[in-house]
Parts: sequence; structure tokens; C-alpha cells
Amino acid sequence: MRYGTIPKGLKERLATVLGVVPYPMLDVLVAPLQARALIAAERAAVFRALEEGEATTPDLARRLALDESCLDLVLRLLSSMGYIKRRSLLWSMTRLGRRHFGAAAPKPLGDFVAFGVPQWDWIARLDEVLKTGRGVEIHRSLNGPDWPLYQRAMAEGARDFAAFVARELPVAKGAKLCLDVAGSHGLVGAALCRAHPGLLSVVLERGEALSEARRLATEARITDVVSFRECDLLSDEYGEGADVVILANILHHFDPDTNRRILARAKRALRSGGSIGIFDIEAPNPKAPPEAAGDAAALFFRITSNSACFSGDDYVGWLRHTGFKRPRAVRSVLLPSRLLVVAQAE
Ligand SMILES: C[S@@+](CC[C@H](N)C(=O)[O-])C[C@H]1O[C@@H](n2cnc3c(N)ncnc32)[C@H](O)[C@@H]1O
Repeated sequence: MRYGTIPKGLKERLATVLGVVPYPMLDVLVAPLQARALIAAERAAVFRALEEGEATTPDLARRLALDESCLDLVLRLLSSMGYIKRRSLLWSMTRLGRRHFGAAAPKPLGDFVAFGVPQWDWIARLDEVLKTGRGVEIHRSLNGPDWPLYQRAMAEGARDFAAFVARELPVAKGAKLCLDVAGSHGLVGAALCRAHPGLLSVVLERGEALSEARRLATEARITDVVSFRECDLLSDEYGEGADVVILANILHHFDPDTNRRILARAKRALRSGGSIGIFDIEAPNPKAPPEAAGDAAALFFRITSNSACFSGDDYVGWLRHTGFKRPRAVRSVLLPSRLLVVAQAE
């Protein structure tokens, strides 16, 4: 994936060839302003207003109690990004905008975008991480009011990959108990339960996450198969006799020794023959050419943890080390830079 200053039209291409495009000035201003315009528009309910019908800038500004001149500039930038368009003086959502924003969006990402505010603060600490190597402990630095938004943002992300985990993670016939460790909203365990009738999933989560996680589960109508238990995955035991353990998007937060200890706890919670599934972002292959999306994600996770993303081989190695059998990585072209690693307890 490329992301950056890409010339449009003959004049801009000529400027590129002549070497007169001030790339660093554009890089340091355009991408952050685009990101912030998107975040501000979502938080100010611009997309929800446009979902109701086309509107002029003055009309939107009046309805949303926003400054008209600033709003117009935000709308123009959103339009350059492809989320909205203008005909005469009327703004409306594009197909891309409708796909991700507003109450009827089939692939909603509004909460993820709104969660850009705390993420922005973490990213701003890159200079510090670069010097000290110490990442931002996001679960300690997250403000109280941001916890519900965090859970909603994670739920939006999970809708993308829950079906893949449910399809690829082996579950024995007659399985009854799944532990969705750090499972937040519970959607991943729920997808597995729907694929294996009779299976019930228990989300093990931090106390701060629980009330919004429960609300999300109710909203998603999965409380018939999902329940919740407060648990610190770093210090508490997870239970016993489970048929499946899921660890989705959590191990990238910790260093390898901590992850081996987490896997040892997961193994103690599994019955013999039970299965484990680790779903996570995968570290870019060091030999592969640098690439914007995967490398930006890897840097983001390096800033927001004391570790980094790991490779499939890392996960497989830790699973072997912890005594799991037949560990293997499964990838999908539909989920670039992510992987599922499955294995069985003895
Ligand atoms: C990135 S989210 C992943 C949520 C979900 N598994 C998914 O893939 O969408 C990480 C989750 O881990 C939880 N978490 C972080 N540290 C934890 C801890 N020490 N014990 C239990 N849960 C923890 C957070 O509250 C958060 O909901």
C-alpha cells in the first residue's frame, strides 16, 4: 500500500519531474490535517447529518453549531479524501463515506476514527520512545471516559476478522467452553460459538472495559453465548477445562517473556486436546521492501507497547516452548499484515 503525495494531472506531474514539489512540507502538514479533519468531522456528527440528506455548509454549520468558515475547509478536505462530494453548493456522502460513516454504515469505522484522539496523543510520544525505547503503556494511560470509546473502536475492527477466526480455529466436536482472553466486546468468541453450536464463550477482561463491553454484547445480540468475567491476564489464572482459548490482538502489547507466561496460563486453562488461537498483527518481514500500511502499523504498535509486532515464527516458537502441539500460522489475503496461529494443548 502506498500513501503519500501523489501527483494528479499534467501540471502536478510536471512539477514532480521538475523537482519543485516540497514533499517534506506536504508530508508534515497534509496527512495530519486530513486525519484531524476526519476525526473532528466524526466527533462533530458531520457524517450523521449528511446521512440524513445533502446540505450546504451554512445549513450544516447552523444545525451542528459549528463555525461556518472552518467547517467549509474541513468539508473540502474530506471531499479531497473521497468521503463526501459537492454538487452546486450541496454536500453529500460518497459511496466510500456511506460505507464507513453514519448510523446505516455497513462497515462502520466512526468510533475507530473518533478514537484517533487518544491515538494521536500516543503517536505524539514517538520522539520519547525513540530515545528511551520505552513504549506508551496505553492501558495505564487511557483516561476513564476514553475506555468505552476504546471498546467500541475495537468492536468495529473485530467485525472484519471474527468470521476468519471462527472458520480457521479448530474446535473439537462437543466443545462447551471458550475463553476469549482480553476479548473486550466478545464478538470473536461469539462468532466461534455461532459456528459450533453448544459452545459458550467467556470474555476475560479488565474491570475498566467491562461495562461498555457488556453493552456492546447486548447491542450485538450475543449475550446468549457470551458472558464476562473480570480478570487480569497478567496475574490471574484463566480457569480450567476450557476447550478453546482465543488471544486476539493482545500479545503485541507484551514482551516475549510475558507472552510465554500468558501462553503457559492459557495452557493450564485448557483441557487436554483443547485448542488455542492467537490472532494478531504480523511484523513486517525484515527482508521485504518497506511498505506504508504494514510498517506504519508496526511502528504504531511499537509506540503503544513495550514490545513490537511479532512474526508468525515467534508465535509458533513460543507455543512450542510452552508445550503446545502442531502450531501453524494461517493467513488470508483479505486480512493483510495479520495472522492467526493455532495449536493444540497435549
Ligand atoms: C486491542 S484490544 C483487543 C480486543 C479484542 N480481543 C479484539 O481483538 O477486538 C485489547 C484488549 O485487552 C484488554 N486488556 C489489556 N490489558 C489487559 C489485562 N492485563 N488483563 C485483561 N485484559 C487486558 C483491553 O482492555 C482491551 O479490551
